Amino acid sequence: MRRVIAVANQKGGVGKTTTVINLGAALATLGYRVALVDMDSQGALTASFGYDPYKVDPSTSTLLLDRTISLTQVLRHGRQRLMVAPANSELLSVEYKLLQESDRTMRLQQAVERSKNEFDFVIIDTPPNLGLLTVNALVAADHLLIPVKTEYLAMRGVRPLLESVWLIRDRINPDLKLLGVLPTMYFPNSPHSAKIVQELKRVFKGKLMHTVIPLDEVAAVAPATRQAVVDYKPNSAAAVAYRRLAEEVSDDV
Ligand SMILES: Nc1ncnc2c1ncn2[C@@H]1O[C@H](COP(=O)(O)OP(=O)(O)OP(=O)(O)O)[C@@H](O)[C@H]1O
Ligand SMILES: [Mg+2]
Repeated sequence: MRRVIAVANQKGGVGKTTTVINLGAALATLGYRVALVDMDSQGALTASFGYDPYKVDPSTSTLLLDRTISLTQVLRHGRQRLMVAPANSELLSVEYKLLQESDRTMRLQQAVERSKNEFDFVIIDTPPNLGLLTVNALVAADHLLIPVKTEYLAMRGVRPLLESVWLIRDRINPDLKLLGVLPTMYFPNSPHSAKIVQELKRVFKGKLMHTVIPLDEVAAVAPATRQAVVDYKPNSAAAVAYRRLAEEVSDDV
């Protein structure tokens, strides 16, 4: 295994799920073996691959509740070289079922560890909050990728996220590193968007990804086709950007 990447931001609708799917598919296109993990009870990642997040079983809830299971045991086919650990709505109650368990923050990490030789990249999608499901993702991960929407005050919310991340690093997972901050939904040819990226660069310096994901309608349409953008419209601006991101992420492994 090369990397376990958690994609997180407690702000909703910033492109987390879209990034997990397309970074994953682009890495698979490069020849890597990829597993995507849906830790969001909304199940958007799961539904994007055509699985029903109300019915699918086993799911990532099984991973969290059953200490003996491995990631591999819950995986479904996604595309060539890419598997998906689907979520179902049971994930919401899992947080409560685990309240008394002393190892509740480490269940996903243990399941991923059991499958570590089968994948090059494991990429984990998280819900828009910093609850127990996101904590499990950050404990299982060695790298964190933070998508931020390219808009005014985009970086608001990233500081408290990073503070929580460093708490997890100091107390539970010393391996956790910031892979980078990824600007998403960038308005092409907009001086305003360009200014925001400059501001992100000033704040995050070397931790701002070189790749910027443009606003592209195809990103919103692709899930309905059960395909990643990089497969559905490989020449679209979003597909080109996600392929570049995959190169950036795999380059410095
Ligand atoms: N580059 C893009 N261009 C245009 N639309 C996009 C782009 N990226 C994502 N979208 C759309 O924006 C919406 C939010 O994206 P996405 O679901 O990936 O965000 P999220 O952070 O996972 O949201 P949530 O916090 O609700 O899980 C979706 O409808 C998605 O299709
Ligand atoms: Mg999402």
